[in-house]
Amino acid sequence: MTRLLLLLAVALLSLRSEAAPILVNPLQRPGQSLDGKWAYIVDPYDNGYLDYRSQPFDRTDPPSGGYGLDRQPKDPSELIEYAFDDALTLDVPADWNSQDDKLFYYEGSVWYRRHFDAPQDREGKRYILYFGGANYRADVYLNGRKLGTHIGGFTPFQFEVTDRLQAQDNSLVVRVNNERLMEGVPTLNTDWWNYGGITRTVRLIEVPETYVADYTVRLQRTAADRIEARVELKGPEAGNHEVHLRLPELGIDQILTTGEGGVAQVSIPARDIERWSPQHPKLYDLEVATGAESVHERVGFRTIETRGSQILLNGEPIFLRGISIHETDPYRGGRAVTKDEAYQLLRWAQELGCNYARLAHYPHSEHMARLADEMGILLWEEIPVYWTIDWQNPDTFTNAQDQLTGLIERDKNRASVIIWSVANETPPTEARTEFLHKLVDHARELDDTRLVSAALEVHNNPDYPGYAVIDDAFGEFVDVVSFNQYNGWYGNRTPDDLEEVQWKVLYNKPVLISEFGGGALAGSHGDKHARFTEEYQAWLYEQTLPMLERIDGLSGMSPWILVDFRSPRRALPGIQDGWNRKGLIGDNGARKQAFYVLQDYYEQKATEDE
Ligand code: GCU
Repeated sequence: MTRLLLLLAVALLSLRSEAAPILVNPLQRPGQSLDGKWAYIVDPYDNGYLDYRSQPFDRTDPPSGGYGLDRQPKDPSELIEYAFDDALTLDVPADWNSQDDKLFYYEGSVWYRRHFDAPQDREGKRYILYFGGANYRADVYLNGRKLGTHIGGFTPFQFEVTDRLQAQDNSLVVRVNNERLMEGVPTLNTDWWNYGGITRTVRLIEVPETYVADYTVRLQRTAADRIEARVELKGPEAGNHEVHLRLPELGIDQILTTGEGGVAQVSIPARDIERWSPQHPKLYDLEVATGAESVHERVGFRTIETRGSQILLNGEPIFLRGISIHETDPYRGGRAVTKDEAYQLLRWAQELGCNYARLAHYPHSEHMARLADEMGILLWEEIPVYWTIDWQNPDTFTNAQDQLTGLIERDKNRASVIIWSVANETPPTEARTEFLHKLVDHARELDDTRLVSAALEVHNNPDYPGYAVIDDAFGEFVDVVSFNQYNGWYGNRTPDDLEEVQWKVLYNKPVLISEFGGGALAGSHGDKHARFTEEYQAWLYEQTLPMLERIDGLSGMSPWILVDFRSPRRALPGIQDGWNRKGLIGDNGARKQAFYVLQDYYEQKATEDE
């Protein structure tokens, strides 16, 4: 019994190592990239994870078997029925589906392995193994020992490995399983491709014994001529430790001293701050330094709030000229992972005339918010609480809450991010509303400086016959009432009927149309009444925009969607072929007619707003 308790304690300890806050600004910290080509083994029966009684090998530490051990035969007589050496390789970061035709539809476990040498002079340093994300579940092993598990396909995770490194030839093995689960977040059914793999960057990050684990630097919500900062150190000397906070262009060079717990907080008067905005995406160099390290990044300062049915950016009403974006690269037809791919998506949004983008339906890579800061594009970021989640399952709630925490902790210093969204198109049941209400409270607890919303659906209400009504009980808890509407594409109305649609929104709050649109195959032309022609899609946009203008409190929109994207739900041969064709840009980069309809509308809106 004692041995089992000891093993359990060790296992919890290793899992706890992930509980430390995810390192702030990880891509800029010293260290070595572990991106590149990793050996892989496809494991549809989880032969590398479960013994023949379906028990995980890693229920013991070290595991009693399995691929995480990364064993090679000691001599020719030894039987080992797997090998990473001489295996095929996959690129990291990237999804496996778009790298190997045999993995195009694959849903299951793939084992990744790479070797790496540790830095030589490790005295007085600590090492954090950081993953930007892996879809959907990752089990991580280093030198044959289990480090821990992460669940959730789009948020970062890390493990401290200081005492686990060997000088050379460290064996890093990751089991990634992308099977869809009823209790998952998202659940079994989505309208996007289930890209599996290590889809975000991997780094071995080096920090001092006592290091800068976290900081938040922003305009103070209650006094916008003051900057509030919170810095958290981790390590044996985190308490009573001097930290320099510098914003040279603002003449700020402040020495903070952490309390016993390693945290320092300060409110600093700041004159003449140039506010960040889409027209003027002003970023300031920030340095957070201790005697042992200096962490740099660029941050912008702005306020976002609502007043009645208006959204105010830096105190001024703003109309959000947006577009929805899935994190996919249309040319490769896979998960977009590189900074260049992120930049391409945001450049297309800028070309459309956008000052805003909805990053649907899950946290995109960290590149997106950092580029949006530089480019002046406001962002809606979202967790994949999508459609029919297992609302009654406490583990599902914890999973959703952890993903929301991961997103907010990662992007909280990004001026471009103005809205946290906790859901998309969920049923208005009591269990769902309670689930989402708790997520909204959690988001506000972590960050009371941004707006919270969710994409709701249109319902008809007998009290308002003939009206399209937004009366979802959840609307009470959000700052911005957002909803998806597809009149003229789904349902029995054609685009010509839209001029008769009347709207009723039962909240005096800003209204965002988080989705509208219709499909068209790029290059397909014909009568505008013919579905999937560019003419139909353009006609739909021409008829939808004036209809939406009639909504009281309309403060913006993010039509569905910037670019065609893969979805297993879209099976129409010769037209969809596994692609959702609602993009304004085709999978070949071609702009469809509707692209220019929306571009003209935004050009006119921008003129009105000036
Ligand atoms: C829904 C959903 C999207 C989906 C879209 C569509 O509104 O939010 O994820 O892709 O409709 O039907 O194309």
